[in-house]
Amino acid sequence: MVIKSRVLLPVLVLAGPVCLMAAAFARQAAPAPDVIAVQASRPGADIAATMFGVFFEDINFAADGGLYPERIKNRSFEFAEPLAGWTRRFMSDGELTIRTDRPLNANNPRYLRVRVHSPGNGFVVSNTGFRGIGVQAGSEYVVSAYARTVGPGPQSVRVTLNDERGGLLGQAVLGGFTGEWTRYEATITPSATTARAQFQVVVDQAGDVDLDMVSLVPKDTWNNRRNGLRKDLVQLLADLKPGFIRFPGGCIVEGRRLELRYQWKNTVGDIADRRNLINRWADENDRLAPDYYQSFGLGFFEYFQLAEDIGASPLPILNCGMACQFNSGELAPAEQLDEYVQDALDLIEFANGPVSGRWGDLRASMGHPAPFGLKMLGVGNEQWGPQYVERYQRFAAALKAKHPEIQLVASAGPAPAGPLFEFLWGRMREMKADLVDEHYYMPPSWFLANATRYDKYERSGPKVFAGEYAAHVAGPGRPGNRNNWQAALAEAAFLTGLERNADVVRMASYAPLFAHVDAWQWAPDLIWFDNLRSFGTPSYYVQKVFGTNAGTRIVPVTINGGIAAAQHGLYASASLDGRTNEIVVKVVNSEAAARPVRLAIDGAAPRGDARITILASADLLAENSLDQPGRVAPVESRVTLGTADLRLELQPQSVTVVRLPKGL
Ligand code: AHR
Repeated sequence: MVIKSRVLLPVLVLAGPVCLMAAAFARQAAPAPDVIAVQASRPGADIAATMFGVFFEDINFAADGGLYPERIKNRSFEFAEPLAGWTRRFMSDGELTIRTDRPLNANNPRYLRVRVHSPGNGFVVSNTGFRGIGVQAGSEYVVSAYARTVGPGPQSVRVTLNDERGGLLGQAVLGGFTGEWTRYEATITPSATTARAQFQVVVDQAGDVDLDMVSLVPKDTWNNRRNGLRKDLVQLLADLKPGFIRFPGGCIVEGRRLELRYQWKNTVGDIADRRNLINRWADENDRLAPDYYQSFGLGFFEYFQLAEDIGASPLPILNCGMACQFNSGELAPAEQLDEYVQDALDLIEFANGPVSGRWGDLRASMGHPAPFGLKMLGVGNEQWGPQYVERYQRFAAALKAKHPEIQLVASAGPAPAGPLFEFLWGRMREMKADLVDEHYYMPPSWFLANATRYDKYERSGPKVFAGEYAAHVAGPGRPGNRNNWQAALAEAAFLTGLERNADVVRMASYAPLFAHVDAWQWAPDLIWFDNLRSFGTPSYYVQKVFGTNAGTRIVPVTINGGIAAAQHGLYASASLDGRTNEIVVKVVNSEAAARPVRLAIDGAAPRGDARITILASADLLAENSLDQPGRVAPVESRVTLGTADLRLELQPQSVTVVRLPKGL
C-alpha cells in the first residue's frame, strides 16, 4: 500500500473544555508525546451496524414500574396474593372479595368484587403503585377499568389521585356500568407533581360492583402510542443510537423452572388477555420482591415496535428447552422440543410473515401490517453443557432449513473463559454457528487486561456477540458494586479492543440496562430511574460516546508503533466513517496523569473543523445520580485544523473521541 501523504496538523492541547494552548504546551517539561498512528489509507473490515446495542431484561423493575409506565400494581388481581398492592380504607362499611366466576377471560381468571353495605362518604380501595405512583402536574393520565354491576349495584365509581397527605390532585368518573364486562376510560390531569401519589377507587353507592384491569397510564408516551412506553427512558435509549436491542433477557427467558419461562405467545394480542407471570427476579438473593410480576403489557409486539422506533435491529432470545442452570436446570425432554422450535418458527412469522398467515395477521391486527425486519434470533440465554449443544443443534437444523436468512446467536455460557466456555466455543465452531454470545461481569482490571482479547482471536468461524458485560468494582456479582467512573473507564478501554477487532466482534451490549432506585435486584446497571426521573451512569455515557461515534470501517492504529492497548495506560481504536467522510480516533487514558499524544494520520489530509468529545473525571469514584445526572458526562467542542501535527493533551482518566474530516 502506498502511503500518499503524511498530514501535519496543528498543536492542540485539550484540557477541560478544548482549548488551543500550543505555547503553554511547549513550555511544559512534559514527557515526550505518545504517537498514535492511524493508517487511514488502509481501511479494513466493516464495523457492523449492530456493533453497539442494548440488552433489555425485565430485572430491577425495568418493565412494569419502569419502561412500561402502568402506575397500578397488580391491575388484574393475578398475583399469587391476589390483593397485593391493594388496600381498603376502613372508613365505611363494605368488603372486598376475589372471585373467579364469569371472569373477563380465561387468561385473566380473577377479578375484584367490591361490596358496599353503607357507603358513607365513599368506600375506598387504594393501590400502592410500584414503590409509589409518580404523576406530573398538568399531564394527562388515562384511567381505565373493566367493570360490571351486579343486580342493582353501583353503576359508576370515582377514581381519585391524591397527594401523600390525602389532598385531592384530580379525579374522574368511570360510569354507565351494565351487567356485562365492559372497558371504561376517562382522563385525570393532576394539579401537582409528586412521586408518591395515592390512587383510589371510590364507590359512593351500596351494592356489588366487579372490577378488573384497573389501570392508570400517562397519555404522553413515546411516539404517543396507546399502551406506550415511558418517554424519558426511551429517549435515553434512543440517544445511544443502538444498533440492536436484545430482549427479553437474560435469565427471565429461562425461568427458574420451565413452566415459569418466558413464552412470547403469552405476551401478544389484547393486553387484558396476556397471562401474568411471576418474575424470575422476584426472589433473587437478599433483595426479595414478592410483588415482582410480569403483566406483559410490554410484550413482543411492543419490543419490536420499540426496536423500530429507535432504529435498532431486534434480537429476541428464546427459551431452548432449558430452565435457568443456576436454578433448577430443568430440561424439556427431547420429544417435547418440537414445541419450543415451533415457537421460534412462529416468532419469525409474527415478525416477518405475510398478513395472510396466522401470525402475520396477528401482527397486522395489533397495528403493524408491515414486517418488522427480524434478522437475528437467540437460541437460549446463558446455557451451557452438552444438553445445550443438543438443543442448539435441533433449533439450528429447523430454523436454517426454513429461514436461512436469520442469523442465530448461540451461548458461550456464563463465564468468559474456562472449560464450559472452551467446550461451547469448540462445538459452535464445528456447527458453524453465526454468532457466539460471550458474557463477562468482571473487575475493572479484567477489562483493562482484556482490551487485547480479540486482537488474538481466530479470524474465521463464528463471530462474537459480547452480549452481557459490566465492570464490577467490588468483584463479580458481589454486593457493593457501583456505577462509578472507575468501572466505566475500564469498559471504555475494553470497547476500543472490540472496535479494533470489528471483523470478529459484530455486536456488544452492556448489562443490565435499567434499574429502579427503590426496587433493584442487581447492580451495576446502565440507567437508573425513580417514578418520575432518570439518569445515565458514567457507563451509559461510555456507551453513548462509542455508539454515536462508531465508524463504518476499521483502520489500523498503533501506539508508539505497538499494539494500541496498555501503552502508558493508553488504549485506542480508529475507524473511517463513510457516512460523513471522517476519521474517528478514540483514545482512553486510564491513568491519573494527563498524557500528551500526537496523532499521526497517514493517507488523509484533514481540513476544516475537528469534532472532539471528552468524557473524563479526576475522581474514579464519581457517580451520577437523580440529583446530579451530569456529574460525569461528555463535553463536545470543535477545533479548526491548521497545518502542524495534531497534538492532544489527554485528560487524566479520560475517553477522547476525535472526528477529523478526512479531506481526500
Ligand atoms: O444481566 C443479569 C443476568 O446476568 C442475566 O439475566 C443473565 O443472562 C446473566 O447471568
